[in-house]
Amino acid sequence: METAFVRDLKSTMPSELWSTEAGELEHFGRDWTYPERPNPCAVFFPRKKEDVVALVKLARKHKMAIVPSGGRTGLSGGACALNGEVVLSLTKMNKIGAVDVISRTVEVEAGAVTEAVHEACKEHGLIWPVDFASKGSSTVGGNIATNAGGINVIKYGNTRHWVLGLEVVLASGELLHLNGKLEKNNSGPDLKELFIGSEGILGIIVGATLKLAPMPGEKSTVLLGVGDVNAVHRIFKHGRESGAHFHAFELFSSSCMDIVSHYSKNPNPLEKKAPWYLLTEWEGESAWFDAVMEDPGFVDGRMSQSSEEAKLLWSFRERIAESVSLRANPNKNDISVAVNQVPEFLEAFGQRLPERFPEVDYFLYGHLGDGNLHLNTLPREKVSAQEWKAMQDKLNVAVAEITRDFHGSISGEHGVGLIKKPYLEYCLSRSEIELIKGLKAVFDPEGLLNPGKVVDAEFVGSA
Ligand code: MLT
Ligand code: ZN
Repeated sequence: METAFVRDLKSTMPSELWSTEAGELEHFGRDWTYPERPNPCAVFFPRKKEDVVALVKLARKHKMAIVPSGGRTGLSGGACALNGEVVLSLTKMNKIGAVDVISRTVEVEAGAVTEAVHEACKEHGLIWPVDFASKGSSTVGGNIATNAGGINVIKYGNTRHWVLGLEVVLASGELLHLNGKLEKNNSGPDLKELFIGSEGILGIIVGATLKLAPMPGEKSTVLLGVGDVNAVHRIFKHGRESGAHFHAFELFSSSCMDIVSHYSKNPNPLEKKAPWYLLTEWEGESAWFDAVMEDPGFVDGRMSQSSEEAKLLWSFRERIAESVSLRANPNKNDISVAVNQVPEFLEAFGQRLPERFPEVDYFLYGHLGDGNLHLNTLPREKVSAQEWKAMQDKLNVAVAEITRDFHGSISGEHGVGLIKKPYLEYCLSRSEIELIKGLKAVFDPEGLLNPGKVVDAEFVGSA
């Protein structure tokens, strides 16, 4: 039955701005985490900021909850609509303005696709350094709302570092213009920072001024096979001490190499197999690398001789998540610890998980240089959905406990959304969680914006 909100939406908004078609509801009601039952009441496709303002005002009138949505590449359920909400898809607001080479900025709408921003900057010798495997679908608004990380964080930091200004629609319907292009602005606390990484619970990001960096010089890309975790650590430590200019320092286990190789039908690019692989990329001098080949844990290595070869080597890292998902929908952990604690953390993982959960296949990979590791797990044998759910719950608690022992975070870069919410207390104190709820109450007193994500605040529900 059509709700009063949907009736009002249909009668007051042009028909190209909304859809209630079943296929679209199914598609836009979920992100890459595949929730079981997406259930939005409608999808709204604004073409301009004023459309977003109009939708928020309409939603307010009906106490209708809104789920902001971008490229839907999120991995924590942050853009899933399971409770009759209206999905606000910003994908059609994707304009990219002229690149300002003096300020080194570009203004974009929230739905601009990451890769399209890269392309627009390239011809000016500039980059927006936010980069990851899903760049072809992810949108700037989503990247900012989740403070996305990626493969170059060791060099450039997270998305937060590359946002100068934000335009945000509040739950009241007011449009805020925060900071514009200013490089320096110390007029009180920086409100824009609150919206970065807040997963749409405080306001709806509709536009941004992005900060750009000069195109880096020539880079060397190497794939290394390494014998054990201690050697991984020695090589990383040596790299850090050498002062080499790393752009990426990525780690993955042999299970990851094997599954990518299986689904891509590309053989392992190294002649010798190894328990661990490092994919590193650096700019300038390669002197640091000479000692790597002398390390007793060095098994094999391949340095790319062309950009095509670099792409091939990168594909074995970038296609891990997609390949694991081709076998089945995995349980995903995204933890981070202090960079110097990664070896000890890996050891704790190795000692405490397989022993307790021997019936699970482990795919461990991630951004070693940032202390951010992804653990994807799948049941080894066929088990019922119920049994797998129970196993995942126990495994996630075990992972969260180990992470807590290291004062780490249960979400290094994917965000909290719905999926990580039950584990938030393992890395934030009660006071911190209460402060987040307090912020939510200030910005969104009626609980209309992405309710149920990150923390449980009051949910007004659908009309
Ligand atoms: C990655 O590092 O490959 C991404 O964060 C995706 C993922 O972990 O699933
Ligand atoms: Zn990642």
